[in-house]
Amino acid sequence: MQPKKARREEVLEKLEEAGGRRTGVAASVQRKTLVPEADVYGVATFYSLLAEPDAGVRVCQGLTCQLSDSQGLMSELESAGQDAVYASCLGQCDQAPASWNPEDETPIDRACTTPSSPDLAIDLEAADSLDYAALRRSFEQGPDWVLNELESSGLTGRGGAGFPAHIKWRAIRDQAESERYVVLNADEGEPGTFKDREVILRRPHLVVEGLAIAASCLEAQAIYLYVRGEFGRVRAALEAALEDAREAGHIDQRVSWHFEDGHGAYICGEETALLEALEGKRGMPRMKPPFPVEKGFRGKPTLIQNVESIACLPAILQRGGEWFRRLGRTEPGTKLYCLSGHVEQPGVYEAPMGSTMRELLELAGGVSGTLKAFSPGGASSGFLPASSVDIAMDFSTLREAGSMLGSAGVVVLNDTVDMVQAALTQAVFFEEESCGQCSPCRIGTQILRQALQRYGDGDPNALAYVQDVAWGMGEASICGLGQAAALPLTSAMKYFPSEFGLASESGGGSTS
Ligand SMILES: Cc1cc2nc3c(=O)[nH]c(=O)nc-3n(C[C@H](O)[C@H](O)[C@H](O)COP(=O)(O)O)c2cc1C
Ligand code: SF4
Repeated sequence: MQPKKARREEVLEKLEEAGGRRTGVAASVQRKTLVPEADVYGVATFYSLLAEPDAGVRVCQGLTCQLSDSQGLMSELESAGQDAVYASCLGQCDQAPASWNPEDETPIDRACTTPSSPDLAIDLEAADSLDYAALRRSFEQGPDWVLNELESSGLTGRGGAGFPAHIKWRAIRDQAESERYVVLNADEGEPGTFKDREVILRRPHLVVEGLAIAASCLEAQAIYLYVRGEFGRVRAALEAALEDAREAGHIDQRVSWHFEDGHGAYICGEETALLEALEGKRGMPRMKPPFPVEKGFRGKPTLIQNVESIACLPAILQRGGEWFRRLGRTEPGTKLYCLSGHVEQPGVYEAPMGSTMRELLELAGGVSGTLKAFSPGGASSGFLPASSVDIAMDFSTLREAGSMLGSAGVVVLNDTVDMVQAALTQAVFFEEESCGQCSPCRIGTQILRQALQRYGDGDPNALAYVQDVAWGMGEASICGLGQAAALPLTSAMKYFPSEFGLASESGGGSTS
């Protein structure tokens, strides 16, 4: 039997129905949910889409969009009398400069992708299918077989942390608690990343089938699909696929499916912040342990998995874990890499895990201009110099290089880019998106942004103490946001010291 939805969990839904933060809304939501009015107000102010419901068009101020003159787009909208505000990355880096109108969401143009091939696990260009053969096979073979295939596949989480999927799945099956949940993380907010969007728009059945496999293997009673709020059409594609799968008889009637919208908070991509949002609260990350596999949604064992991770499951079970593992070069599987910025054909490219940056640039039609630097895995991964172009783009190699693969949002910068400005753009992003819960991150992100602005304004000593601040943030922040937020600045200073008034170059330089 489904546990009844707690009233607290209805706070975000009721706020959304009432049109966001407006006079009298907190009081009316208090009456409907019995959650204290001040608490409701606190929730409304946390989420940008609820806090500023009448702000108008959102113009992306992510790094890729700034490279494509998002300021010019903002000026055009303002001249046309349109209400507009800047927003953090909108997940449309291939369409830069991107904007999003909550009143009239325009369809997203199809991104460039890799041509269809039988050697791709997701294969974005292939026809999506209602076959669901992998789901049927998982029923026939049973949970132990599914877990063994998952383990032999070597699938690691594609949302950013790269954690082995089979360990999470086994940990949930080992729990004595029988109330269990599966959560799809489709919040996709890391600047430079837009792969989950393309997976759902092109292959929604892979996602629905993958979720059904997970719920059945883990004996979960409910599946929650948390889709970022600006992705209305993405959510609609997923809903339509679920409906088709239901009509085709593939969906177990005992499992309930719930769609939940994000409300414009990057931090809710972090798995425990996402759980807080599902529970109707401000999206502030929880201390771990306990991990969600033990105490997740409603304090019960919960599998949280990224869209790309889930979409790999049908191919793994149909073609075998070993087949998937061998697709990778340095680590198992293929990987969806998002390329944007100064490349000729921005898009989502599926390539063997561990492909080099040089190979990815070739897939994306080459660099526009001369390569200076790149972010291998979104804003959180900082910058690497052009001389790293032959690095293997996988989790362990990039970690050893002091960076990260993260969500593989690869942003390419040519030699026209000012690295102080690029670091400032990322600093603004992290300051705005910090949930404010812990002081190293809340205050540290502010200090870094201010230091960069002062340096840009001509103060040569402005950056004197940023390494100490960065150390404190890395050591003492609760979650990955604060731990990574200084990396864009510290890596830019390391590889491009002369741009920060420091003595020697170390490994920087450009390459064609
Ligand atoms: C600040 C921050 C933001 C994150 N955003 C996302 C996101 O948008 N989508 C996602 O799948 N994972 C995101 N993650 C990673 C999740 O916390 C979690 O590791 C992931 O959803 C687990 O799924 P996976 O194992 O399939 O990757 C984020 C992590 C942090 C620290
Ligand atoms: S590190 Fe930043 S985002 Fe994470 S919990 Fe602390 S304040 Fe919030």
